[in-house]
Amino acid sequence: MSSAKVPLLHNVPEHRGTSRRFLPTAFIMVSLLCYTFVLYFRDVSVPVIGQHCAHIPPISAEEFTTRQNALARTLVDLNATAYIAEPGASFKYYANVSNANWGLSERPLLLIVTPVQAGNDVHAQITILTPTFEAARAKLELPIASTDVTWIDWAEEANPYEHAISSLRDSPGAVFVDGHIRAFIFDGLKDAHPDRTVSTAPYEIKRLRERKSPSEIMILKCVNEATLLSIRAVRERMYRGITESTASAMMRETLASAGLTNGGCLTLFGDDAALPHGRGSDRPLGKNDFALFDCTAGLHGYSSDVTRTVAIKGSKIPEDHLHLWHQVHHAQTAAIQTAKAGVIAREVDIAARKALNNTKYFTHRLGHGIGLEVHEDPYLNGGSMSVLETGHTFSNEPGYYHIGKVGIRLEDCFYIHENGNAVFLTAGVGGQAKSPWSP
Ligand SMILES: *[C@@H]1O[C@H](CO)[C@@H](O)[C@H](O)[C@H]1NC(C)=O
Ligand SMILES: *[C@@H]1O[C@H](CO)[C@@H](O)[C@H](O)[C@H]1NC(C)=O
Ligand SMILES: *[C@@H]1O[C@H](CO)[C@@H](O)[C@H](O)[C@H]1NC(C)=O
Repeated sequence: MSSAKVPLLHNVPEHRGTSRRFLPTAFIMVSLLCYTFVLYFRDVSVPVIGQHCAHIPPISAEEFTTRQNALARTLVDLNATAYIAEPGASFKYYANVSNANWGLSERPLLLIVTPVQAGNDVHAQITILTPTFEAARAKLELPIASTDVTWIDWAEEANPYEHAISSLRDSPGAVFVDGHIRAFIFDGLKDAHPDRTVSTAPYEIKRLRERKSPSEIMILKCVNEATLLSIRAVRERMYRGITESTASAMMRETLASAGLTNGGCLTLFGDDAALPHGRGSDRPLGKNDFALFDCTAGLHGYSSDVTRTVAIKGSKIPEDHLHLWHQVHHAQTAAIQTAKAGVIAREVDIAARKALNNTKYFTHRLGHGIGLEVHEDPYLNGGSMSVLETGHTFSNEPGYYHIGKVGIRLEDCFYIHENGNAVFLTAGVGGQAKSPWSP
């Protein structure tokens, strides 16, 4: 063996000459091989969640009728004449039309719900006010969930609000409008008939949409589960040096692969996450960095909201950051244990804050209602006197934000079960995170 090497050692110039030509080629070939090898084993393709929610039906025609009649019954109890909404979450709730179905413009298109009483029975009459020149398109395109719609229209030179109010039967009761109706429409309705009370729908009406039905809970569970599965799948494919924008694009595609609509995530690495609503950029994931994903996506119009602060295989997360992660997790647990039917919303916020020693680094409210809107009433904050009821759904998202150092947030939404307890909407896929490596 050693004698065989001798000639080479004695032949140094020639040997060097060969390696000058040979080494670069070998280097390139070996690099290419390694690269292919790495690419093969680090599957950079986007994970596919498949049809996790394919079996979940949208809201049925019967349920829309139930909602409309519950509203009509509530209007009667309140001695009110009508409820009016523009395309948006409430119109979608009662009659299946969101702003995605009909864009808002300066010309009002309104849903008008009036109660019709026949003996003890109360049912809803659905009327749509549309601009005259848009009437044909409205009848063709609006997916109104009602078999009995009365159409009224207003010509360009007419006052649409007078048309709306004049269409109401003689009943002198108040007209309630959805809280999201635009101010010029509210003013128009008020000015049309100054003797008629027009005001924002009271709590008795708002709570009809706040409290979710079993079929809504089913949709909300699935959309939150699929969102969490997407985060877990993307984490598996992440590697040191991946940029926020690449990871964010992977998340978007994975959420779409799960059959969800309008999916996307705030994607923040390391101390970028110390701004709770930071924008993210092309920052690469460092060895000591957490990655925070705050994701939302839609299913049948209902939204998810899930946040995970994760680490990847091989990450070396500083001990104090890991400790904080577990503190935030502890706060999330304290909140879900406090939330119950009958509890005042602010108590839940207070419980989470207390678990974090009332730190100044937990800078935002604990949570928000969620459903047809990502953020909706009621809210979990220190001033909220709302009472938690069966069917209420909230986010539970404590966080810790130290600018220039670290940002951590953990978020799962929950609902109030019929038995009065709070249950995570992500429970079907394991619920809360277990560790940064097991989100
Ligand atoms: C609600 O609208 C969607 C389209 O946005 C439609 O597919 C669905 O059939 C409608 N539902 C009802 C009950 O009309
Ligand atoms: C509705 O009208 C009835 C009879 O006039 C009255 O007794 C009741 O208090 C009214 N209800 C509301 C909520 O105003
Ligand atoms: C809260 O106090 C405990 C006990 O002193 C401590 O271990 C923990 O780190 C504190 N948490 C925060 C977020 O300051």
